[in-house]
Amino acid sequence: MISSTFRFCLLLLLNLSLSLSLSAQTPPFASERPGGAGSDPLESPRDLSGRSVKTCRVRAVHGTELPGSSGWLMRNDPWLAYQRGRELSLREYSLADGAFGESGKLRGKTQDDGATVLGSSNHVNSCVACHNVPWRDMGSGITIQKNSGAGRNTPHLFGGGLVEMVGQEIRRQLLASVDRNGNGWVELMEATGQALVEPTPGQQLDFGSFADEDGDGRPDLNPVVYVWYLDGDGKRIPWARDLSAAGVAGYNFEVQVFGFGQRDRVGHGGLSSTLRAVSSNAFDIHSGLQAHDPTANLEPRLDGLSQISLAGAQQFYSGFTRDAGTVLGPGGISLDDPDRDGVIEEISEGDMDLIEFFLLNHPAPTQTGGARFERGRKLFAASGCVECHVSDWRVPQDRRFFDLQVSSGRGQLQATRPGPLLVKGVFSDFRHHDLGPEFHEMQYDGSQIKKFRTTPLWGVGTTGPYGHDGASLSLEAVIRRHGGEAAPARDRYLALEEAERDHLLAFLSSLVLYSTETLPTDLDGDGVISEHFTVAGVDTGGELFNPEWLFRLPGRIEGWVEVNSGRVLSKALVNLQEAYGESLPGLKDLDRDGFPDWWLRRPAPRKS
Ligand code: HEC
Ligand code: HEC
Repeated sequence: MISSTFRFCLLLLLNLSLSLSLSAQTPPFASERPGGAGSDPLESPRDLSGRSVKTCRVRAVHGTELPGSSGWLMRNDPWLAYQRGRELSLREYSLADGAFGESGKLRGKTQDDGATVLGSSNHVNSCVACHNVPWRDMGSGITIQKNSGAGRNTPHLFGGGLVEMVGQEIRRQLLASVDRNGNGWVELMEATGQALVEPTPGQQLDFGSFADEDGDGRPDLNPVVYVWYLDGDGKRIPWARDLSAAGVAGYNFEVQVFGFGQRDRVGHGGLSSTLRAVSSNAFDIHSGLQAHDPTANLEPRLDGLSQISLAGAQQFYSGFTRDAGTVLGPGGISLDDPDRDGVIEEISEGDMDLIEFFLLNHPAPTQTGGARFERGRKLFAASGCVECHVSDWRVPQDRRFFDLQVSSGRGQLQATRPGPLLVKGVFSDFRHHDLGPEFHEMQYDGSQIKKFRTTPLWGVGTTGPYGHDGASLSLEAVIRRHGGEAAPARDRYLALEEAERDHLLAFLSSLVLYSTETLPTDLDGDGVISEHFTVAGVDTGGELFNPEWLFRLPGRIEGWVEVNSGRVLSKALVNLQEAYGESLPGLKDLDRDGFPDWWLRRPAPRKS
């Protein structure tokens, strides 16, 4: 009793001195709830559940050598890199972070009345405000304003890295089949033949033709393939929109597997082909935060390919960010401030490394199984749904650092092996299809989007409403809505016995998401999920999938404490600063200005 009161006072004292020294500077870059049982809830918001964002926002340094920099963390403390990337998706950004610089400003071309603009930017200050189900896990979510009155439903990002790898594999196979001289792009002479892709050996999908057979000036590839045009030296011609533009000697492409389908630029496929590019765009559009991201913005050979990220993904010019870093300050910070809100370098290249790393590794959805599952799955295949909703994809290289196998509501943490990987149960061919008028979308300008990407069906049991527009309120309704290219499959579905249709629906309903942070998981690989999982010498209760337990210096929780409602297990960390690496030079920010102190001490780079 005495010792616990003593500890409480000590904590109070510590907290007092800390809050005094900080309040003198009124730190703008606060964390959500850093405190524990001993903290004054007004001075230092507290969270005994331990699930809030605990660290203050500090821009991550891009690099591999400096301890605490993005690449250094990915290599030396990958779970901390993952957690810090995850925090970037959870944070609610404030004015001090540069959120909403152009708040109130809408997006797109001005309409005929000279005043109204095309659409809204759906301003919110956090990724998980939309990617909201399950809570704090980059799941699926609300339907938002798009270029049409119909709206756009928010997809989930479970298994996002696997989807990115499939997209890269589609590109690799297409390029390998057409680029006969191996110079990395498609010369006009080479641009012939059918574009075929093998999801798994022996299976073939038709991605259209490399040639322009319909005479519209563009290669007849599936719209998921986003094409740009090159001159005889293989350099991108920025203004070229088709093969007939002056000087065009060929083309190159990326496979935009993310996004349901866009037509806001000529030949545009989906949102993007990389997690990084979608994310920097989302930061800018939805939260008014512009990334200064040389990884995406430098195009060394001016050929449409920008750099390869630290997490190993080729980036493309289509992912250029608005903060181009035309004027650089200390340490290479961009002074551009494109939204003129007085906050510079709102999202750093290192931040982009970390959020990409998190999304790359975010675990895949799971399935709840059962006898009906297998029967339903067979009927799904027999009805021809698998012609588009292709179950498995083989990728030659797994870039993730862990795999979480989830079944029956329990997780098993596993290391990944470099080399080939079978991505199981994603249920998409990643092509765009015309499913008939029920899915067509008229945009505000009257133009029609007719083709949409086959939605990957993993997770579909928990992601309603359905359709790119979220207009179908049940699985049954969205399946019945299929027509066009999918009419034969829909008719086979409708011809099933009612009990069979139930099996098929039960199969789809069993493809689910789950809350990662409450998932009972065998973290230490001892084959059991302990009821008393001990981390840093303290019993944390049931063994859960909590990245903090896997840090190089694992988080140590407060443990059992008395609060006015009784005794509770406090999961607030008592070694927050050490565990989260806050004294590493790449992360240390004593003056709380949102930049590591090390960074601003460096001179501005000279521009040649
Ligand atoms: C205002 C709501 C909203 C916010 C905020 C938001 N997103 Fe999204 N996100 C969407 C919608 C809607 C789509 C689908 C867009 C489309 O296809 O047209 C999407 C798609 C994506 C995709 C592609 C997923 C896929 O399978 O196609 C990624 C990756 C993504 N968002 C990441 C992010 C990140 C990272 C953030 C935070 C920086 C973020 N999003 C913030 C609504 C949102
Ligand atoms: C010709 C290709 C094709 C076939 C065949 C096909 N689908 Fe689809 N499916 C799609 C496309 C494309 C979408 C996305 C439509 C949209 O939202 O615009 C989709 C969407 C869905 C969705 C909604 C997913 C979501 O999260 O919104 C479900 C469920 C679905 N399909 C189930 C089925 C079933 C069951 C069958 C067989 C009876 C089937 N599909 C056959 C292409 C196909």
